[in-house]
Parts: sequence; structure tokens; C-alpha cells
Amino acid sequence: MNLEHHRLEGKLALITGGSSGIGCYTAKVFCQHGAKVMIADIQDDLGYSVCRDLGPTHASFIHCDVTNEIDVKNAIDKSVAKHGKLDIMFNNAGIVGSIKPNILDNDKTVFEKVLRTNVVGAFLGTKHAARVMIPAGRGTIINTASICSVIGGVSTHDYTCSKHALFGLTKNTAVELGKFGIRVNCVSPYVVLTEMIMKNIDDESFKNIYANAKGVSLKPEDVARAILYLASDESKYVSGHNLIIDGGFTVVNQALSMFNE
Ligand SMILES: NC(=O)c1ccc[n+]([C@@H]2O[C@H](COP(=O)([O-])OP(=O)(O)OC[C@H]3O[C@@H](n4cnc5c(N)ncnc54)[C@H](O)[C@@H]3O)[C@@H](O)[C@H]2O)c1
Repeated sequence: MNLEHHRLEGKLALITGGSSGIGCYTAKVFCQHGAKVMIADIQDDLGYSVCRDLGPTHASFIHCDVTNEIDVKNAIDKSVAKHGKLDIMFNNAGIVGSIKPNILDNDKTVFEKVLRTNVVGAFLGTKHAARVMIPAGRGTIINTASICSVIGGVSTHDYTCSKHALFGLTKNTAVELGKFGIRVNCVSPYVVLTEMIMKNIDDESFKNIYANAKGVSLKPEDVARAILYLASDESKYVSGHNLIIDGGFTVVNQALSMFNE
């Protein structure tokens, strides 16, 4: 096995939310390592342009709203029809609702929309990936959670609930699907300055609030490399894991740290 290049040689990956941000960077890294990718997203023009950049032999786009079971089933069936298999399912599509810090201003419709996209979307992706991975007796499923899967108070109620639920889905499905040779894990990044964040937050200052990793900031490619590990056979004994990528942010309560300067 060549660890430097081609860590995913011959694999087929379906990436939801691959038109932008973390999903798009992951598609690039996967292709650099020899995988073929199907990008499933609701931003068609952007998705087609990402695929053009990656090259038609490596990447294809399919329109897919992850909250719609027919779309998800169709994306997985088309991937299998085109490539004969599905090795890697990356449930990455996600949204944040409106940033309203007072629960009294929070809207039920927005709350449900965030849960539908972030949780139901990943549930459908996992369900339909499992449908084709079980007969194959192998596969790896990765969900994009967030540091909000393990701590409160960093984001909105809907987003925090959705990411906690996603970690729950990861653990439960890892338990069920292990006997079929399928691993399920999630990644939990700290703040990455993607489209999602730039739309909602105009202040970049918090990007340096790391618990202990000073002098570096988290980039989408850093998250993509962690996902590459979970997607590759190098993590063959890793399942049900939440790979937190936060420079140590969640391991300390800054208010009580004996190492504060
Ligand atoms: N950016 C961060 O700081 C950060 C931190 C932790 C976790 N995350 C998570 O990373 C994932 C990717 O976010 P990003 O930061 O790259 O944001 P992004 O907005 O750049 O990308 C999200 C992608 O998901 C797609 N999408 C949204 N709703 C969809 C739907 N219903 N069906 C299909 N596709 C849909 C969007 O079109 C977009 O291409 C999300 O799950 C997000 O919660 C982001």
C-alpha cells in the first residue's frame, strides 16, 4: 500500500454536499488518492463546475436533496449503476438555521428544517448506502458532525441538537452494520471558514480561539485529510468513532484551566 498517494485507489465515493466547502475539498483529496467521486448536492451549477475541475473520468454530479428519500435512493442507485459499487458514503450535507440566541425567537419550521437536513439526510444516506453495502460485505460510512456534537453553547439549539443526534446515529449504525463489514464514523470539526460560516458570521476573530493549538487555523483540507483516513483501509478497525478536529478546543474549560496565560 502506498501511503503517500492512492490511498483510495479503485474506490467509489458518494459525497453529499460536495458542491462546496468541506465536501468539495474532500472530493478533491479523494480524487488525488485514486478514488472516483459522485457529488450529490442541490447546487447543481456549482457541483457541475467542481466535477469539470476534477475531470470527467474522476467526478460526476447528481442532483440530490438529502431530505428527499427518492433523491437519495436514486443517487446511490446511479452510483452503483455507473461504477458497479459503493465503497465510501460521505454524509456531509448540512445547514445552520438562523442565528438567534434567544429560544423565544426560534422558529419551529427552521428547527425542523435543520434536523431534516442534518439528521434525516444522514439517516437516509446511511440507510441506502447500507442497502448496497450489505450484499457487498464491506463499506465505510462517514458523517460530518461538528464540535457541537459533544458540547453545548457554541451554536444554535437546532444545530447543536442535530449534531448530537448525528453522533448517536453514527454509534448506533456502527453497532448494527459492523457484522456486515461496514464501518461508520463521524468527523467533528471546529470552525472552518466555508460558505456556511461566512454567510452567518462576519467576525473572523474567533478562528484563533483554540484551547492549545496556537498559531494554526483549521482549513477545509485539514478536515478532508481526516476524512481520507476514515475512508481508507488504514482505519479498518475504527468504527463508531467521533474524530474531533478542534486543536484541543473541547478538552478544556478555559475558565478553569491551570495553563491559562
Ligand atoms: N464550516 C464549519 O465551520 C463546520 C464545522 C463543523 C461542521 N461543519 C459541517 O460540515 C458540513 C459541510 O459544511 P460546509 O462548512 O462545507 O458548508 P457549505 O455551505 O460550504 O457546504 C454545504 C453543502 O451542503 C449542500 N446542501 C445543503 N442542504 C442540502 C440538501 N438538502 N441536500 C443536498 N445538499 C445540501 C449545500 O448546497 C452545500 O454545497 C455540514 O454538515 C456542516 O454542518 C461545518
